[in-house]
Amino acid sequence: MKKCTLSERELPRAWYNIAADLPEPLRPPLDPGTGQPIGPEKLAPIFPLPLLEQEMSAQREIPIPPEVLDVYASWRPTPLVRATRLEKHLGTPARIFYKYEGASPAGSHKPNTAVAQAYYNKLSGVKRLTTETGAGQWGSALAYGCCLFGLQLKVYMVKVSYHQKPYRKSIIQAWGGEIVPSPSHDTQAGRRFLAENPDSPGSLGIAISEAVEDAASRDDTNYSLGSVLNHVLLHQTVIGLETQRQFKEFNLEPDVVIGCVGGGSNFGGLAIPYVRERIAGRKVRAVAVEPTACPSITRGHYHYDFGDTAEMTPLLAMHTLGHQFLPPGIHAGGLRYHGMSPLISHMVRLGLVEAKALNQLECFRAAVTFARTEGLIPAPETSHAIRAAIVEAERCKAEGKAETIVFNFSGHGLLDMSAYDAYFADELGDYTLPEKELKEAWELIRGLPKP
Ligand SMILES: Cc1ncc(COP(=O)(O)O)c(C=O)c1O
Repeated sequence: MKKCTLSERELPRAWYNIAADLPEPLRPPLDPGTGQPIGPEKLAPIFPLPLLEQEMSAQREIPIPPEVLDVYASWRPTPLVRATRLEKHLGTPARIFYKYEGASPAGSHKPNTAVAQAYYNKLSGVKRLTTETGAGQWGSALAYGCCLFGLQLKVYMVKVSYHQKPYRKSIIQAWGGEIVPSPSHDTQAGRRFLAENPDSPGSLGIAISEAVEDAASRDDTNYSLGSVLNHVLLHQTVIGLETQRQFKEFNLEPDVVIGCVGGGSNFGGLAIPYVRERIAGRKVRAVAVEPTACPSITRGHYHYDFGDTAEMTPLLAMHTLGHQFLPPGIHAGGLRYHGMSPLISHMVRLGLVEAKALNQLECFRAAVTFARTEGLIPAPETSHAIRAAIVEAERCKAEGKAETIVFNFSGHGLLDMSAYDAYFADELGDYTLPEKELKEAWELIRGLPKP
């Protein structure tokens, strides 16, 4: 069997909340003013109540509303495919599978939470949302969600990616969203960053500051985050829950589960149901893959830090490079975030999740190998998961082991072809960040509370 596509009837009816099964509870977000844990009332001006409840919930299963299931059904369940041609090319005894999240209307896993977030905001009487976007996948997904539920949307897109991926702008506009490059002149934070550095390439941290400020300054507007937070990872668990059912059809169980990590949502979505199995005693490894240009887990610190550059968010306990850290403009724009989901960070600390960092060029090489064997052209973010899967498959070959490997194919790269152009023209490089640069960014947050 090459692939398993479940029927619509087999779509999971509830998201899985790992907070119910963690051996140690998550550290709470803190108020930067008082250093005390924040309650939902602090976040109520920018998030709707149902999402705040999910953020703090300890309930194991949270039902997916019928309105959201109805939208999911237009592309879910997504296929679980065995990459047999890649296996043959590598000559590995390993079985390599990928969960194809590029099948959604926006081309990535992001609509799994965008649709849910737009729905809960609509339900709560909100008229308009703001958000940040890196490579544009999240901005387009939220534009799609807002379009379905009749909400206005303004997207602050990281400037370097805005110019690298011009068609993301057209997609967001096609679904009725407004989009500006960030830093922009539309917010105080944006104007301040531009005054400091008129040529700023932007970053996810800066774009988050702009979107939060915009939402906080208008009564009719909420803010929506495409990754990092517990409720976002919760919505993404639909990926792993489907994958568990699909592996039953193959009569297999994965030994290694892999995803790339920006803020942690596609990795979490696939891996969290498997981390549950690991907590219950089954041997399964979960591997989070980040770029060497933005190595928040492998070279950052586990510490309280702001989620944005202008210090507008609560303090989150996470692996971070420091909220002032400005990552190099790699093409995997969705992986250029200074921090990591508190949930993923916590699971790393508990030894439930492993992390590794990979360089840009080896990932592009792996992406091209994948395109030439399996056909699909991955997003630059996804190429990190592919490279890591290949490394695992090569290890299996060296050790003569027929392990089962699954990775999250988080998005297609059909709007990222300028990145491939640069790769084929030999214009791309690798990044190893100097220790000095990382130390400087870390020194700026050293005084914040320790988890
Ligand atoms: C295709 C794709 N994969 C992965 C990511 C990384 O985000 P996350 O870690 O939240 O999945 C992004 C973010 O924009 C993306 O567009």
